[in-house]
Amino acid sequence: MSNVFTDTIKGIYHERPPVWFMRQAGRIIPEYQLLRGKYSFHELMYNPELAAEVTLQPVHRLGVDAAILFSDILVIPEAMGMKLEFTNHGPRFETPLNEVRDPAALLDANPEKLRHVYDAIDATMASIPADIPLIGFCGAPLTTLMYMVQGVSYNHQFPDAVNMVYRDVETTDYLLESITKLSIEYALQQVKHGISAFQLFDTYAGLLPYALYNEKILPYVRRILHAVQKTGIPVIFFPKGLGTGLRVLKNETFDFVGVDWQMSIEDANEMVGPNMGVQGNLDPRILTTDKDTIRKALEKYVSFGMKEQKWIFNLGHGVLPNTPFENAKFVVEWIKNVDWRNGL
Ligand code: CP3
Repeated sequence: MSNVFTDTIKGIYHERPPVWFMRQAGRIIPEYQLLRGKYSFHELMYNPELAAEVTLQPVHRLGVDAAILFSDILVIPEAMGMKLEFTNHGPRFETPLNEVRDPAALLDANPEKLRHVYDAIDATMASIPADIPLIGFCGAPLTTLMYMVQGVSYNHQFPDAVNMVYRDVETTDYLLESITKLSIEYALQQVKHGISAFQLFDTYAGLLPYALYNEKILPYVRRILHAVQKTGIPVIFFPKGLGTGLRVLKNETFDFVGVDWQMSIEDANEMVGPNMGVQGNLDPRILTTDKDTIRKALEKYVSFGMKEQKWIFNLGHGVLPNTPFENAKFVVEWIKNVDWRNGL
């Protein structure tokens, strides 16, 4: 199977960059909203046929070049025994680790609890168009740890969890190690069930000073991504908010790095060096405006796309819930129709 996404990631040149969106499954697709009227998010995620259907909706409706599995990064703590609820305000753990004296005693990793994800991959593979790759994913250890310790995101802040990282090195290491071990097993199973690429979401990479991130967190990230790469599957690492800390990735061997919207794609590309491709990075808020504004923002990518072949077009973070479907579709069509050899 080859298409513009899988080829670009392998370094095979196409006339245009591939396009897909983080969080493309769900929220903005009208057919997803209909399903959500009947089922909770949790029910959709745990039903393999429905999860497969939702996974493929953006491929059929938006025309993106890749599907990403419909699941959530928080299935890992769930499989470690933490009770999780998806409320209207986002995910919430019943007992945050910050509130227990001995987090190790509370956790009991049971890889069988991830079976529904593999069943969803099987169901997706049974109906995915032959030329469309499926992207698997998991949360990076730091981002997963933040939710487990804090229990909830306070407007993207995790004060008690960051406090623990500084104060209690032993517990932090124990938890990062446990998350990493289960994540490796989880990622390798996803590969076995047929994913074509793997993305590690470190949404909260920017919460720590990057020297600390580099020293304490990156070794765990490497273990997960190298384990996946050993199977021959390309990997994308998305360390949101790392800023100029992206420079530390120059010596890494990851295939692609996801760039957030705070950074310019040119600067990010320079910082990670010529060996790593870049993915990104349109500000998702632009998709909530109008077509003229969106077109102007997209035109800024043309000079980059004309000279840079290791580039996957994406947003700089997930699609926002209030994004009009037509605007997302407009972006996909625009990217597909530009003359990337001669410009516009
Ligand atoms: O990208 C995709 O389309 C695939 C599916 C996917 C979901 N979550 C589905 C989802 C992916 C890749 C994720 C990753 C995820 N989940 C991250 C990392 C990426 C990011 O966006 O920062 C994080 C931090 C989470 C945790 C999470 N799950 C939050 C904060 C929320 C609530 C707010 C929100 O973003 O909707 C969820 C719920 C969730 N995960 C929904 C979906 C479609 C919304 C469920 C609904 O109400 O229908």
